Amino acid sequence: MTDAPPTSLDDDPSIGRVLLSEEQLVNRIAELGRQLTQDYAGRAPLLVCVLRGAYVFLTDLARSIDLPVEIDFIAVSSYGATTRTSGVVRLVKDLEVDLTDRDVILVEDIVDTGLTLRYLRRSLEARGPASLEVCALLARESADLEGLGVRYVGFTIPGDFVIGYGLDVGERYRNLRYLAVYEPPDDA
Ligand code: PRP
Repeated sequence: MTDAPPTSLDDDPSIGRVLLSEEQLVNRIAELGRQLTQDYAGRAPLLVCVLRGAYVFLTDLARSIDLPVEIDFIAVSSYGATTRTSGVVRLVKDLEVDLTDRDVILVEDIVDTGLTLRYLRRSLEARGPASLEVCALLARESADLEGLGVRYVGFTIPGDFVIGYGLDVGERYRNLRYLAVYEPPDDA
């Protein structure tokens, strides 16, 4: 049985230091949107949102791109209910759109070990897109972005476990408007 959640997020001691404020997120995502608008001028890219974490980023990013974008969703799971990786990626929900000859932009919330991305890249490249790029809001300082072929990154962050703006712990905190460090309860 899980503990009852605090009645207000303001009272939640697990929400630690703010790592990225709402304003920082809004400004950087607008920049990414401008860059994508420029780079994909004359094309209609397909934004592939990796559920669930990237759903908040996707909605803001898509509205920052001044092009006729299309959107589809894919769901994979690489972490269980804990904060530690299981080392296994599982396809939970596949795309509905055919990727043949499409300009695909894979939209991720965070690149951590790169396990998820390696799996997704292999899976999507096999479907014959015209191009495939990755746009991640966050990347760990330790992530090999070049090796993983990540072209667009919002912020590089240290190793703290982070919550908010789509990122969760046990499905909570995705609805925070900012990114914060997670402070596990003492008995965790
Ligand atoms: C998180 C995140 C990325 C992945 C990154 O997903 O959304 O997809 O982990 O980690 P990696 O680079 O080490 O593979 P998670 O499995 O927690 O699911 P969620 O997006 O539904 O929260």
